[in-house]
Amino acid sequence: MFETLKPQPADKILALVQQYRDDPRDTKIDLGVGVYKDATGLTPVMRAVKTAEQTLWAQENTKAYTALAGDPAFADAMVDLVLGAAVARETVAAAATPGGTGAVRQAFEMIKMANPAARVFVSNPTWPNHLSILGHLCMETVSYRYFDPQSRAVDFEAMLSDLKTARPGDVVLLHGCCHNPTGANLNLTQWQSVIDVLLATGAVPMIDIAYQGFGDGLDADAQATRMVAAGVPECLIAASCSKNFGIYRERTGILMAISQNASARGLHQGTLAYLNRQNFSFPPDHGARLVSMILNDPALRSDWQAELEAVRLGMLELRQQLADCLQQLSGSDRFGFLAQHRGMFSLLGTTADKVDALRDKHAIYMVGDSRLNIAGLNRDTVPILAKAIIDVGI
Ligand code: LMR
Repeated sequence: MFETLKPQPADKILALVQQYRDDPRDTKIDLGVGVYKDATGLTPVMRAVKTAEQTLWAQENTKAYTALAGDPAFADAMVDLVLGAAVARETVAAAATPGGTGAVRQAFEMIKMANPAARVFVSNPTWPNHLSILGHLCMETVSYRYFDPQSRAVDFEAMLSDLKTARPGDVVLLHGCCHNPTGANLNLTQWQSVIDVLLATGAVPMIDIAYQGFGDGLDADAQATRMVAAGVPECLIAASCSKNFGIYRERTGILMAISQNASARGLHQGTLAYLNRQNFSFPPDHGARLVSMILNDPALRSDWQAELEAVRLGMLELRQQLADCLQQLSGSDRFGFLAQHRGMFSLLGTTADKVDALRDKHAIYMVGDSRLNIAGLNRDTVPILAKAIIDVGI
């Protein structure tokens, strides 16, 4: 029977990880997959995570199941981290999921259950796995313009005009901060215009927020998500703890469904628990428990925030250093966008053959759409990258 299966296309980002590993050159630089690395190339376990793990190891006396929606303390802590006081807690249904990707998947399934004909509007470009999961679920997508290849900023007029074609029952997928893959983001005035369009069209927003704390700070990065949640009748939020807690392999994420109609919460909560049960039953608990321990302990929380802030500032420095190097080498400001972008990624906005040339000639790996992971750089590799970018004619 299984001989009827067709080979599946490799995930573009994950395929690159293997290609990089197989490259014997010791000068190679990995700017592919979105994983934070420190100046030595290590993805460290954060201090607060290590401390919480030690406490958990000493105190945990059972591995019995939690609840289908996960530990309620995790949901409370994450709703507070992402939404602050933007909406009343009793309007938010929430369920833990295996990573942010799990939350995205469950969100799409919830949309499909509610409206099998829903069209999901996705930015062009977006994280490739959004499209892959939507395709797998046979859900219709509509691409909206987002990135201006000239300025490497958001083409906001085009975005808005595309979003205006949404209808009631459609969903608009938005990146809460640190847009992946471009690094180009809306300002808060533009977010307000998006909210106005959502209200005018009746489309429901779904926000994917996977990099809170990597852009302008923990609260600043959540600001747009909070405005949307408070400004529309219904909204879904898929949040990830992989990056800001550095617990990638623990698969820790959460899906929130917010409705200004508080009586809808029970229905949403039941649906989220049901979806978890259908797909994997109970969500992973280890990472979620670490997160709620950290967020609920003032000393751990402040240590975590300090370490996260250092990571964020380090990435901003690398951005500035790269933009400065390229300004010197090119004698122009055309790479200034690198310092304006926020988060782990920037889209260089160049062609696949130049990305190939960076890899083949200079052993520099970035995703084929020319997305580079700023956190894969350090002070020594920034000038190497800058020279290579000029050398291949970007
Ligand atoms: C990325 O975009 O590189 C990350 O979100 C990792 C992944 O799973 O693709």
